[in-house]
Amino acid sequence: MTLPDSQGKGRQAEASARRSEVIYQIYPASFCDSNGDGHGDLQGIISKLDHLAYLGVDALWLSPVYPSPEGPEGDGGYAVTNRRDIDPRYGCLDDMKQLIAQAHKRGLKVYMDDVTPHTSDDHEWFQASRERRAPFDDFYVWHDGVADHDGNRQPPNNWLSVFGGGAWEWDDTRRQYYFHHFLTSQPALNLNSEKVQDAVLDDMKFWLDMGVDGFRLDSICYAHYDPHFRDNDGGGAWDQQYFSRSHCQPQTVDFVSRIRQLTDSYSPPRTTLGEVICGRDGGRNPMEVAADYVDPESGLTMCYTDVFRAISHQAGPSYMKDAINGIIRHFPHGQHCNAIGNHDSPRIASREIDHIPELARRTALKQLLKILTVLPGSLSIYQGEELGLPDARVPDDIPHDKVRDPVAATKGYEHCRDGARTPVPWDSARKNAGFSNSDTPYLPVPDDHYHRAVNKQMQDPGSMLHFMKHLITWRKSQPALQNGAARVLETLPPLVAIVRECDSQTMLCVFNVSDAPVFFKPSDLLDDKTLAATGIAEDEVIRCEPYGAEIRGAETAQPACGKTAQPCRRRASVSGMRAG
Ligand code: NOJ
Repeated sequence: MTLPDSQGKGRQAEASARRSEVIYQIYPASFCDSNGDGHGDLQGIISKLDHLAYLGVDALWLSPVYPSPEGPEGDGGYAVTNRRDIDPRYGCLDDMKQLIAQAHKRGLKVYMDDVTPHTSDDHEWFQASRERRAPFDDFYVWHDGVADHDGNRQPPNNWLSVFGGGAWEWDDTRRQYYFHHFLTSQPALNLNSEKVQDAVLDDMKFWLDMGVDGFRLDSICYAHYDPHFRDNDGGGAWDQQYFSRSHCQPQTVDFVSRIRQLTDSYSPPRTTLGEVICGRDGGRNPMEVAADYVDPESGLTMCYTDVFRAISHQAGPSYMKDAINGIIRHFPHGQHCNAIGNHDSPRIASREIDHIPELARRTALKQLLKILTVLPGSLSIYQGEELGLPDARVPDDIPHDKVRDPVAATKGYEHCRDGARTPVPWDSARKNAGFSNSDTPYLPVPDDHYHRAVNKQMQDPGSMLHFMKHLITWRKSQPALQNGAARVLETLPPLVAIVRECDSQTMLCVFNVSDAPVFFKPSDLLDDKTLAATGIAEDEVIRCEPYGAEIRGAETAQPACGKTAQPCRRRASVSGMRAG
């Protein structure tokens, strides 16, 4: 039958469009405060939607805005006390509806953060569960514990918490241990039970019915656990353990297919972006785990891993090539989301280039952004990365008594994630750089963020903001970057070379990951057919500047900085993208 076939093709095209989206992540507490209480809110986000539309992103992902404890036990919103409401600090359900409507008006989708594997210990499900009240009795993972040689009660096994220490906490009310992957205030939901899965799916449906376009699924690889509570293999430390029992379980694949059934029941199907930053082997190799969750027929739309958290000039071209080869191998349909930072990682501007001489840093940063932009899959930009903000430092920018992140207490200040969570500087001339009128902003605005504020960068055609806007516009104008095939070429360091190709376009992207110029001959890298398709002459030798990017076969030129990209009418013309 023709109809289902064409419908099938339409659905595939629609799915592949979603997999090449540009997503903008908002950390709502520090994005924009509309009512002067020092805390970002939904009305603040609404007031800045034009900034996102200007940037040209397709969707925004909101870190959690559900009710959550204010103190460290709230984990910045990732300990949820009510999965169907909005925390008053952010506004109310009507504000959320307004945000969705206003975003849609500008062609922006809205993804919420579903904190799937745990709730707050203040959630009514947990309160009922600790009192063994039906039907919540088994909503969490409870265990009596075991007796040691001396008959003393001990946790049931060697499972560990991501935030340090063991993963079991004794509860005096229920007189059992409960399992937690993160803080003790974040008890793990018993997602091994279909009944609990149903409850979680019902909550997701609540938001989808409201008009939300999809979800980022928090820590989805932590959803299941070994029902026999066997020890993980390996040593006592996190990086020595093999997480074969405490998480990364095969049952999660079935659970994500239930999520997929739900999101596919809407038209158009809704999007899911899983967070998988932990592999089985001491946390390493998350790509292997994530790859199991993104089956094009039954899995999530896409996943992000932390593979690009480590991509850096310091790691070098070999690491980059391996990482890119990894995403091509594990995510053949572009189901990997390439994230330029997030609220858990140091900002890319500080993370990647500290060891590079000051004068070359900006170029090196732009090169990294270009690399991420030409990779297959979607691109996620964390708030402030479009401004090239450096990480805030503790205690220089954020005094100890102002630190919010609970990880500073459980694992030490060097692990504190607040460096990437300071307010977005909107206006250099205003209090708290225009984030809030309050004397007690969510976190202080670092002094060196003021001159990087949006108003300043808007006026400067050479700014990071303009660069990012043009990079996004340029990416969208290249068919090969939407859903084209990708391969990494065999090159010697310091070059990293990628080919992106689809029926209508072949693009060669070469990056010089070093501080000295490099000459290369494309005909040494490409076969005759591919070379011809890029439009590069057989005898052409190209000079790639230090930390430069040479992109050939593009349909529109990416200006070095500032100027708006104009469509190029000549098909398969050779246009260059150079270090800006
Ligand atoms: C991953 C989130 O990104 C992080 O911020 C949070 O602390 C943990 N999951 C626990 O929810």
